[in-house]
Amino acid sequence: MIPLIVDTDPGVDDAFALAVAALAPEVDLRAVTTVHGNVGVEQTTDNARRLLGTFGRPDVPVGRGAGVPLVHLLERRSDGVHGDDGLGGRSLDFGPPVDESPLRAVALMASVLEASEEPVTIAAIGPFTNVATLLSARPDLEERIGRFVLMGGSIAFGGNVSASAEFNVWGDPEAARRVLAGSRVPTTMVPLDLTMRITLTADWLDDLAATGPVGAALASTRETYLAAYSTRFGHAAMAVHDAVALLEAIVPGTVATTPMPVDVDTSSGPGRGATIGDLRGAEAQAVDGVRPVEVALEADATSVRAELRRRLSAGVPRR
Ligand code: BDR
Ligand code: CA
Repeated sequence: MIPLIVDTDPGVDDAFALAVAALAPEVDLRAVTTVHGNVGVEQTTDNARRLLGTFGRPDVPVGRGAGVPLVHLLERRSDGVHGDDGLGGRSLDFGPPVDESPLRAVALMASVLEASEEPVTIAAIGPFTNVATLLSARPDLEERIGRFVLMGGSIAFGGNVSASAEFNVWGDPEAARRVLAGSRVPTTMVPLDLTMRITLTADWLDDLAATGPVGAALASTRETYLAAYSTRFGHAAMAVHDAVALLEAIVPGTVATTPMPVDVDTSSGPGRGATIGDLRGAEAQAVDGVRPVEVALEADATSVRAELRRRLSAGVPRR
């Protein structure tokens, strides 16, 4: 069993990712922690609780995390891409909501790490505020984190929320820099370069919806998200970025990676939130203090889609 914490801002694609994690027989899902991002943390927490209810996982503690980034306070969210409620207007169809943990996100992550006899994977699929805070508050626990799998950033694709920045990094660039460049935890970064190539069409979602209640609930969140991919990117299909990262967390090797140091632009100019991968040639060494991470640049999109369909149609397991 893979011990796993998911840090998330649901989010349509976060919902697909949480389903992958919650339904996976090979995963010991020890906590879900929430963060500001696609919508405010109040709503992302409610969404996470409802999603886990739908996926039959009242046993998983949900810890509420940061409502604002570490340094610069944000007003702007994902501009309705995920609908006003983060789940395409369908959030109240999910549930019943599981309980919220009395522990806040960082304390919950710390308690899971303290109690674990084996290294724990942390999959972070929203802005990295909680994870950076954990690293700063509890450096003694860093060695208990087996791996970070981070959905975020872009090497050569450009941005999605600005010309240069990917949403999760843009949502808290200082936190992203702390986690990506400044930690020692083995890290796989899953950037837009890959996730924008693994898209789901309306037909694919219709097929998923026919497989059962989980598939139907997930497919029902599509409306604003699918429309945004059409108007903003010219795709008649939507990317499920976070679900690709979760598959990699659960089945290491799903994606093919290239090691390179990745730094984050924390300036206040047009490059704010850009991730800068050092492509000067197989740089598996730290450069100017920025350590190398594994960057996921390739995967077999057809196999990833098939694996998503298989897992999301499997139904809620008896536990
Ligand atoms: C990331 O931003 C969010 O809108 C998605 O949930 C995903 O985590 C993609 O850039
Ligand atoms: Ca997300």
